Amino acid sequence: MKKLFKFLAYALGALILLVAAGAAFIYFRGIPNYPYAPTPEIQALKVNPDSVRVERGAKIASLLCNECHKNPETGRLTGRIMLDLPKEFGTVASLNITRDPKHGIGAWTDGELYYFLRTGIRKDGSWAPPTMPKFPLMADEDIYSVIAWLRSPSPQLEADSKEYPPNNYNMFIKFLGHVAFFPPELPAQPIVIPDTLDQIALGRYVADALCSCYACHSADFTKQDALNPEKSFMYYGGGNPMLDTEGNTVPTANITFDKETGIGDWTIEQFRDAVKNNKNPRGGLLHYPMFPHTTLSDTEVDAVYAFLKTVPPLKNAVARYTGK
Ligand code: HEC
Ligand code: HEC
Repeated sequence: MKKLFKFLAYALGALILLVAAGAAFIYFRGIPNYPYAPTPEIQALKVNPDSVRVERGAKIASLLCNECHKNPETGRLTGRIMLDLPKEFGTVASLNITRDPKHGIGAWTDGELYYFLRTGIRKDGSWAPPTMPKFPLMADEDIYSVIAWLRSPSPQLEADSKEYPPNNYNMFIKFLGHVAFFPPELPAQPIVIPDTLDQIALGRYVADALCSCYACHSADFTKQDALNPEKSFMYYGGGNPMLDTEGNTVPTANITFDKETGIGDWTIEQFRDAVKNNKNPRGGLLHYPMFPHTTLSDTEVDAVYAFLKTVPPLKNAVARYTGK
């Protein structure tokens, strides 16, 4: 018996040491690096920044980038401190993506931008954790449009020398960076934008790939599947406890077509008004981080509505934020 206790004590001691060593390893290693491995095609990518692409890119940015990268003080995409991130993430800035070659992305090649937007991996192998979304499902042409827009003379992108101290992710995110979050793989086939005549496919593309509606509207950021969004936990069932910039918890809404707890009895007009103008049909406005998707066309919003109707309805009554 004594022997057994001694053995257990040793085993426990060894386990504690192992855990401590693991924790120290993660603490000092921080967010892991990954090999920068673009294909030769990506490396040689040269996007022709024609006006159609620049216009489309500006639209995508208004749906997907400005929300995090636009700084209200500079009015440009100089980045901001992300006060709307949970405290467990540490102090995080969204970084300067203006044309400035030193402080922004002016010196990045088109291939580097493409690879980063797909995987989050930079040329030096450093990896942006999930505070920066990745776009593994976006059509190639749409990624080209974003790149064309980043090169455009838009005043929002005018070179600016705003700089931030290195992002200081704390233990929680570093830990998840080792066990739960990894860079998505490059798409195996080229991805094309669905035809507007295929309403459901277009709606799925706009909702899952172009606007990442599912990312906020599924229940948990840590249980999402970026390559197969429909496999995410509580896909479109809401209840994800997001924060506004003052630290109030604003759970996302259930936008499946469940009649009692979702949007099953909403009309298309109510849906358009909510998505494009942030109007809450029960009165008032929807709260941040929901934001008005003003640049979506009616065709696109209607397609999202039609698509959401095909998503399995989930019964999930979300206790919604009602303001202070
Ligand atoms: C939810 C917030 C969020 C959204 C949306 C977002 N970003 Fe970011 N972005 C970040 C954060 C945070 C970082 C810093 C990540 C890190 O710590 O490595 C970042 C980093 C970057 C970088 C790397 C900059 C550098 O100097 O290393 C680029 C380029 C970038 N984002 C471009 C974009 C583009 C283009 C879009 C839209 C298609 C976009 N981001 C959407 C939050 C966001
Ligand atoms: C950055 C996170 C985020 C993104 C992206 C987002 N939403 Fe939301 N959405 C929210 C939050 C949070 C709420 C709840 C706001 C509130 O309770 O006032 C909400 C509310 C809604 C509502 C209101 C539902 C109700 O019952 O009141 C609809 C409809 C909606 N979103 C649709 C969409 C669609 C469609 C997209 C993509 C085009 C989208 N959202 C993208 C966070 C987001």
